[in-house]
Amino acid sequence: MAIQWFPGHMHLTQKAIGERIKNIDVVIELLDARLPGSSANPLLAQLTAGKPSLKVLNKQDLADPARTTEWLAHYNGLPGTRALALDASVATPAKALVKACFELAPNRGGMVKPMRVLICGIPNVGKSTLINTLTGKRAAKTGDEAGITKLEQRISLADDFYLYDTPGVLWPRIIVARSGYNLAASGAIGRNAFNEEEVALELLDYLKTHYATQLEARYKLSAASALSDEELLDAIGRQRGALQGGKRVNLQKAAEIVIYDFRAAAIGRVTLETPQEFARWLAEGQKLDAKRQIKKDAIELDRQIRFKKIPRPPKPASE
Ligand code: G4P
Repeated sequence: MAIQWFPGHMHLTQKAIGERIKNIDVVIELLDARLPGSSANPLLAQLTAGKPSLKVLNKQDLADPARTTEWLAHYNGLPGTRALALDASVATPAKALVKACFELAPNRGGMVKPMRVLICGIPNVGKSTLINTLTGKRAAKTGDEAGITKLEQRISLADDFYLYDTPGVLWPRIIVARSGYNLAASGAIGRNAFNEEEVALELLDYLKTHYATQLEARYKLSAASALSDEELLDAIGRQRGALQGGKRVNLQKAAEIVIYDFRAAAIGRVTLETPQEFARWLAEGQKLDAKRQIKKDAIELDRQIRFKKIPRPPKPASE
């Protein structure tokens, strides 16, 4: 079953970003380098269309470096877009951010036309950590829960460079099932919104195909890719002593171990999607969206006819 995730208050964020964007020169979107496509919010792309965009692949220390290079090349090939990779160990991230923003909007700068930048990202991509490093202090974290109003924060990175934090919380949007599983595995989705066993099985399915050597090394297994996802989870549970009565594997516990290990990069530096894979999923998701829209339109048309707001269309002539 696909993950269902309908956080509220997105319309408030949407409205606030819509207002703020008018006076913004560059939008920084913080992405999780382990799932750059799935951790982007497609709504943000719509709201900020036409604005130069800096994609920051954050948590690069956890991601597969070869795939991070692929993603950077992908974004750097898009018009009006630049990309760089970061992680919390970079002590002075401001330098690279400021440089990239001035490259994207070279007409800005100086006290008369200061650079105005909006920083956005779905929860858990490391935005608070980055902002704390930029401001050099431990700012209180607010606004992750629906209903909490987040005060807008303006950070001065230079005399002529202002960074604005997103007003409100930008929730992820699940486009296709795979994106949902990747977001859940990364920690971006509330714990109660998904089934750990299901997410671990999907994660193992991807890992055994793309990162079999690391998986085998971590759990002392051989020929991981020859096992079914269920057999793999069972073998991991057994190997890690996640057992219950009758020496049966406690699959819930085994699933938690796999997810925890992925988040901590104990399996190694892993990236769950390539630009090509994500493009395929996106196309699938857009097809599903279009089908859903056709269904919705048909229901709405039927409703309007039944309430006589519009006349019933004539029946097609029989042949
Ligand atoms: P957010 O504001 O976007 O929601 O994210 P936040 O900064 O709170 O970071 C979410 C989690 O990711 C935190 O871990 C944080 O320490 C971790 N994190 C942030 N940046 C990086 C990074 O570049 N690399 C790695 N490996 N981790 C990063 P946590 O376990 O939720 O909290 P804590 O243990 O740090 O308190």
